[in-house]
Amino acid sequence: MQTSITRLALAAVLAVALAGLAEAAPRKKAPERGYFDVSRMAPLTDQKGDPANGRKVAATKGLCVSCHVMPIPEQPDHGDVGPDLAGVGSRMQPPELRMRIVDPKVLYADTIMPSFYKSDLNRVKKGLEGKPFLTAQEVEDVVAYLATLK
Ligand code: HEC
Repeated sequence: MQTSITRLALAAVLAVALAGLAEAAPRKKAPERGYFDVSRMAPLTDQKGDPANGRKVAATKGLCVSCHVMPIPEQPDHGDVGPDLAGVGSRMQPPELRMRIVDPKVLYADTIMPSFYKSDLNRVKKGLEGKPFLTAQEVEDVVAYLATLK
């Protein structure tokens, strides 16, 4: 009898202490624009992406091949800093592909992959301030191309 009362008292003290701790712990603030923010994933243009132009952008202006192996044989020098993009259209849906091109830093803040559709880039050449690296249509074209890589 004596022990169960002691245990009960102990449990009550513990419960009060824990409740106090929970109260004192700082609340984690939800990220303002996180992974599942659909506004990051919606198409950037009304015009559907053109996969043929997307392939061209990936091999040239987009510099995707400087870091990724891609099924673009006429461009022989591919980097392997990022994952091989063959089959990426089976692994990811267009909204995720788009988000990864627009601003991959929302998924992994320290990634070396550039944000291709962000307008507040650092150290931009004079005259290009406030402009994203790719146009909205170019992003849509690259998304359409990657979606064909099944
Ligand atoms: C400077 C190197 C670099 C460049 C340029 C680059 N990427 Fe990446 N990319 C990466 C790295 C590294 C990863 C691996 C994940 C991470 O670090 O975010 C990645 C991941 C990805 C992924 C996810 C693939 C997977 O299987 O997980 C896609 C899709 C992608 N990149 C597409 C592109 C496209 C399209 C371009 C060109 C418009 C491009 N990347 C340009 C480095 C780069």
